[in-house]
Amino acid sequence: MDFFESNYFTYKDSTLYCEDISLTEMSHQIETPFYVYSKKYLYDNYLKFEKAFEGIKHKIFYACKANYNINIIKLFNDLGAGIDVNSAGEFHRALKASVKPKNMIFSGVGKTREEIKLALDNNIHMLKAESLSEIELINEVGKSLGKTAPIAIRVNPNVDPATHPYISTGLAENKFGIDEKAAVEIFRKADSFANISVVGIDMHIGSQITKVEPYVEAITKLVQLKNKLKSYDINITHIDIGGGMGIKYFDEKPFLIDDFAKAIIPVLSKTDCEIFMEPGRILTANAGALVTKVLYKKTNLDKNFLVVDAAMNDNLRPSLYKAYHHIQPVKKTDKGEFKADIVGPICESGDFLGKQRVIQEVEEGDLLSLMSAGAYGIVMSSNYNARRRPPEILVDGNNFHIIRERETFDQLIQNEKIIQF
Ligand code: LLP
Repeated sequence: MDFFESNYFTYKDSTLYCEDISLTEMSHQIETPFYVYSKKYLYDNYLKFEKAFEGIKHKIFYACKANYNINIIKLFNDLGAGIDVNSAGEFHRALKASVKPKNMIFSGVGKTREEIKLALDNNIHMLKAESLSEIELINEVGKSLGKTAPIAIRVNPNVDPATHPYISTGLAENKFGIDEKAAVEIFRKADSFANISVVGIDMHIGSQITKVEPYVEAITKLVQLKNKLKSYDINITHIDIGGGMGIKYFDEKPFLIDDFAKAIIPVLSKTDCEIFMEPGRILTANAGALVTKVLYKKTNLDKNFLVVDAAMNDNLRPSLYKAYHHIQPVKKTDKGEFKADIVGPICESGDFLGKQRVIQEVEEGDLLSLMSAGAYGIVMSSNYNARRRPPEILVDGNNFHIIRERETFDQLIQNEKIIQF
């Protein structure tokens, strides 16, 4: 079987470590399942991303939907990133993480009046609008507050990002942004509103994109649009190229961030615009793992199953997208391999973490680690089957901190009221 290793998750004496902490040792103090993140990965990887763009005026807004633990948001903000929020809840989290609204941008295809008001009341850096109706509403809310709302308009550049259909967003058939053909007209209309200031063009063409070509194609269209708008006296000051940069889960060969920067900077530097980016996954996915314990081993007919204590409620990606995550034993042995489905305790056939995996022979009680789980892991977790969501642990060298406790049973019912029938 393949073992996923990096500078941050390594085997030492056959045991998987996150930085200098043995995951076996950690499991003696924290019950499985738990998420574990490497702080050093988050630092190193962010700084590498930042450095790749040092040749061009730019700002990175971490898309906190990927992992919105307030400590993670704070960590990126402390490193100089702004934060991209997609809801009032994410805005609230960012505030709690001491992010100034001036360093936040607000995304989302369906922002409510309350969310728009919240953003404008707090003088957010910019709102990204996705339809004419939304622009009209932003104008109306701006007027009621006596403010001019800075907006970018998300254009759907109709390019194929060649990724999973559920996470492709830049094709004309997807719900996101405004149609590229109607763009000039909508920008002009927006510019005519008294309480709107159109400052940016925005795109986000999908997620887990591993090739640079779709970006180059889409950015070229945005640059053309920016030039066209100039002829109507609309001066765009930034172009937001979205997030979507892919990572290696299995055998993907994602672009290196330096190559990505080298491919797109020449296109973008034809304008005088500042470049905004809103990456999520690439900054956090490979910082994290979900550690789980084998509860039972069984064989039905000829098929082996490992029933583990993590489930689809803890990490939905395999069930929802048939996404692949490496699943590997925390303790390497020379016991040989077998093939098994790795499944959770939830009462659904769709509750699996991996299917037909060739994996080292493990025993009941052994630990497994589901890798690349730092993005879209805990944030997509749920309480299905009244399961408590797992804790999150941040490793820092040879220390670790619980940055979110496991939920309690009482928390699971705290908003319910017993009524008299
Ligand atoms: N900006 C916007 C407007 C977005 O909608 C997203 C992600 C991002 C930035 C960050 O994209 P990233 O760099 O992380 O690809 N749950 C799915 C991913 C959904 C992504 C949604 N939007 C998954 O687990 O693969």
